[in-house]
Amino acid sequence: MTATPTPAAPGRAGLAQDDIAMKLLLINGPNLNLLGLREPATYGHATLAEVERAAAAEAARMGAELAPWQSNHEGAIVERIHAAHTEGVAGIVINAGAYTHTSIAIRDALAATALPFVEVHISNVHAREPFRHRSYLSAMAAGIVVGFGVDGYRLAVQGLVRRLSAG
Ligand code: DQA
Repeated sequence: MTATPTPAAPGRAGLAQDDIAMKLLLINGPNLNLLGLREPATYGHATLAEVERAAAAEAARMGAELAPWQSNHEGAIVERIHAAHTEGVAGIVINAGAYTHTSIAIRDALAATALPFVEVHISNVHAREPFRHRSYLSAMAAGIVVGFGVDGYRLAVQGLVRRLSAG
């Protein structure tokens, strides 16, 4: 009698434990290094390190691996997106900060790599100044999480892993 192979045990999020962890990249753009100090009425009191830890923990809970990264420089963000493509990153969570509203270069980098990404904004940008209503990224995003405070990063990780797992 031929033995039936035992399927890999599912992880907590239903991913096989034996699979190589899905690699995700979290990109935070300009001024987000100042989270915790910066306009707390709008952005809350959590620091960037706390936000990154929570996002990485959520990814791990879902069987994925998240690398956090932040820069205040547009070109550096473009180059980080290019590098993600060659590193085997499966998807990106990005809060491009003010570059969301201005950067065709970041938009083009995301389009060039064709990596699925979720756009996050801590604040509800649509309830703020008109210049924050336009995003160069949204039309290409797999999803957008806006206005849930720093909890949005955790929600974005969940949405991205589910989307990537669905194929
Ligand atoms: C932000 C909103 C942007 O308009 C702003 O420039 C930021 C943060 C947010 O997370 O709410 O830097 O992306």
